[in-house]
Amino acid sequence: MQQKRIIDLLETKPAPIEISINGWVRAFRSNRFIALNDGSTIKNLQCVVDFENFEESLLKKITVGAAVQVFGTIVESQGQGQKVEIQVSKVEILGEADPEEVKLTILSPKRHSLEKLREEAHLRIRTNTFSAVMRTRSKLAFAVHEYFQKNGFNYMNTPIVTGSDAEGAGEMFRVSALDPKNPPLDENGNIDYKQDFFEKETNLTVSGQLEAETYAMALGKVYTFGPTFRAENSNTSRHLAEFWMIEPEVAFNDLDQNMDLAEDFIKYVVNYALENCKDDLEFLEQRLLQEEKSKPQAERSEMLLRDKLAFIGENNFKRVSYTEAIDILKNSKPNKKKKFKYVIEEWGADLQSEHERFLVEKHFKCPVILFDYPANIKAFYMRLNDDGKTVRAMDVLFPGIGEIVGGSQREERYDVLKQKMADLNIDEEELYWYLDLRKFGTAVHSGFGLGFERLVQFVTGMGNIRDVIPYPRSPGNASF
Ligand code: 4AD
Ligand code: MG
Repeated sequence: MQQKRIIDLLETKPAPIEISINGWVRAFRSNRFIALNDGSTIKNLQCVVDFENFEESLLKKITVGAAVQVFGTIVESQGQGQKVEIQVSKVEILGEADPEEVKLTILSPKRHSLEKLREEAHLRIRTNTFSAVMRTRSKLAFAVHEYFQKNGFNYMNTPIVTGSDAEGAGEMFRVSALDPKNPPLDENGNIDYKQDFFEKETNLTVSGQLEAETYAMALGKVYTFGPTFRAENSNTSRHLAEFWMIEPEVAFNDLDQNMDLAEDFIKYVVNYALENCKDDLEFLEQRLLQEEKSKPQAERSEMLLRDKLAFIGENNFKRVSYTEAIDILKNSKPNKKKKFKYVIEEWGADLQSEHERFLVEKHFKCPVILFDYPANIKAFYMRLNDDGKTVRAMDVLFPGIGEIVGGSQREERYDVLKQKMADLNIDEEELYWYLDLRKFGTAVHSGFGLGFERLVQFVTGMGNIRDVIPYPRSPGNASF
């Protein structure tokens, strides 16, 4: 007997041979129609049961949430919405689901808020929304690898436990094997990390960039795709404490080439999703439309989800220097009317997401790459421009998301980097290897980091980043 997956079965023609399908019951109508889903597609398979020929006790166990194996033949569907359905000859109950208990969970067939679904993250993947999001996430991850592999990049894995703070922002989770109740102390009464597992202070990585640079300076083109951790107390719809980042790093690339790479890469993966996640994106587009109906007109998006994705592929990203952006923002209506929470007063101000989104959504109405930021609001490793006050940084800003990519050309000059580290009190001993790169065959090189969840958010149209990763980690939440 052939075992089929629903995604394949829906594409086949009616045939008088017996097949079987495993799945979970989404609905059982009129003691006759099972809507079966096996996770292979957003679409359910209609399975028609002639209840007259089945035991009452068996029919009672075909309940929402139950796992079943259905046997039958593929026939032309009488109903609307599908070409074929299954004429059922036998049903095997693989795992029951007690309706009384199901009623108390988000499996119960009624509308649940996304907040409620988050509380039951182990079950929410059985809903249409989350299965669509997570299948799309999986396809996007594949597209990321495919893009870089096709373009001659080497996939490398950077350490998750590290002694360095790549971003210098001090937002790290400490890693220690010491007894927190009774840690060994040094002569000054401080915790003596020399007695810890690694014999030094360590933390979870905030970025694999610095290690990726060492590999780029030997393999030429590399990329990482791994988890990163930030203990920043940002309770927003775009921040996670644990997120996945993709970090390409390329020797001999300057900032312009870095921008070209970021733009080409993003277009590729977005197009890939458009072509390979059709059913899921169609569903998510409708979901978003429904969700936006409850919002005021001004907050609704002007384009449908898939049109928005196609727009990315078809249009150039606008490249604007930080200095130009500040001029635009200073003279903007929301700034003059003090509608921004952080009013832009002068050059040097750090841009908040309200400013980024104004530039993208209201002013340019397309993705924007901002470059040449003031040195003092960016990380230590970025290459200093000849003006002595800006660095070769770039951020890619997206509608609805804000910053999706952060990157830069790296400071390749030994003396300049050494001075910068000294100015910022960055421990040279900890990063001697990073300085070594500038001693032995240094070269212009660049890279960037793309937050994978922000990409998934953009592609799926989900408003909250906690709904595009299976088990979100955020302040006050590490369930599951
Ligand atoms: O701008 P960030 O901090 O840049 C870096 O970490 C560089 N070392 C990257 C590089 O040049 N190799 O982070 C890069 C991206 C951001 O643009 C954003 O998309 C995402 O990572 N990101 C987060 N995503 C979710 N939650 C958070 N808390 C994030 N912080 C950054
Ligand atoms: Mg950034």
